Amino acid sequence: NHITIVLGTRPEIIKLAPVIRACEEYDQPYSVIHTGQHYSENLNKVFFDQLELPKPDYNLGVGSASHGKQTGEMIIGIEEILLEENTDVVLVQGDTNSVLAGTIAATKLDCEVGHVEAGLRSFDREMPEEKNRVIADHTADYLFAPTEQSEKFLLEEGLPEERIYVTGNTVVDAVQQNRELAAQKSAALSELNLEDGGYGLLTAHRAENVDNKEPFSNLLAGVAQVGKRYGLEFLYPIHPRARSRLKEFDLELPECVRMIPPQDYLDFLQLQSSAGLILTDSGGVQEEACILGVPCVTLRDSTERPETLDVGANRLAGTEPHEIEESARLMLEKSHDWENPFGDGTSAIKVIDKVTTRRTESVSQ
Ligand code: UD1
Ligand code: UDP
Repeated sequence: NHITIVLGTRPEIIKLAPVIRACEEYDQPYSVIHTGQHYSENLNKVFFDQLELPKPDYNLGVGSASHGKQTGEMIIGIEEILLEENTDVVLVQGDTNSVLAGTIAATKLDCEVGHVEAGLRSFDREMPEEKNRVIADHTADYLFAPTEQSEKFLLEEGLPEERIYVTGNTVVDAVQQNRELAAQKSAALSELNLEDGGYGLLTAHRAENVDNKEPFSNLLAGVAQVGKRYGLEFLYPIHPRARSRLKEFDLELPECVRMIPPQDYLDFLQLQSSAGLILTDSGGVQEEACILGVPCVTLRDSTERPETLDVGANRLAGTEPHEIEESARLMLEKSHDWENPFGDGTSAIKVIDKVTTRRTESVSQ
């Protein structure tokens, strides 16, 4: 019973690390295919090193390209490996092009597909991520839904109940496994000269926000208004996509925004934990802010993480400056004692248990 894990980007490495650890603990035979979608050291290698993950068995080195070219090259490379490897189940996580490619390559061969973090929906079909996750969910044999809400979305699309397992989100496993370590080991606060609770954290990298000048410059104006009103400096660990757009559009960062390189996981966890407010368009950051009890404002019109809104940990602001300022005010003024809706940190073990026991059951029948 062999499992092949396909991953390619920063959030997949972080959220699949607990799954890889569970395979190691259970002596479960597995291999890892890295598509090479993320290749810069600080989006990739740093996480393998810090999370003590074994080097991937394969790296396709696909890199950056248009959606079709990038996804197509990944499918070709993954198929070649799966044909050699004799694997039973391919696991993918999330909603990137690497997920789309892993799902398509595996389903055309004699492999089952398990989608970790199934059933997330923003209902915004403009987003590449929404298309990827819908295709993955409608193809996969195992749908590992993080919450009952995501299970409901899947059932509403007619997906059969027998395929769905509510497991929680492996991001909780990742936070639990690294939170203490971050508090002990990270020197980010002192190195950046920050005080606990005395600064804000900004991440913005989504195509719909940074690939056009207007939303990107509005978003920055909104951050500037919040910074001014509350006297907060915002730290911006900038994703390479956003960094190149900033240059291309000749945009200047507001005075209250301090740009820093992408951070490793322990430093970033520490920077999140100690932030007074998080402004983000990231999926994973919305979840982690909610788990860590830090108020979050999402710089998008929709979210596929509605649980964070329901528990009161997050507000949707879009990119209009006054909406961002008002959402920041509402989040700062309320209490921050919400419940974590994403499970108890045993999600990765549940995924591996399910994949191995259901297969054993079906083989012995
Ligand atoms: C991808 C995902 C997005 C996810 C993000 C996580 C898709 C469609 N998008 O977006 O959902 O939130 O990863 O961070 O899969 N680049 C580098 N170094 C790298 C990788 C990229 O410099 O290691 C730069 C390149 O200029 C590239 C650009 O970033 O053109 C975008 O990379 P790409 O993989 O297309 O998408 P992301 O924006 O990273
Ligand atoms: N992250 C990190 N360093 C950073 C920014 C983010 O380690 O400088 C982590 C963050 O803790 C979360 C994940 O990266 O676990 C989110 O990835 P990203 O925002 O790139 O993608 P998304 O979740 O939006 O797909």
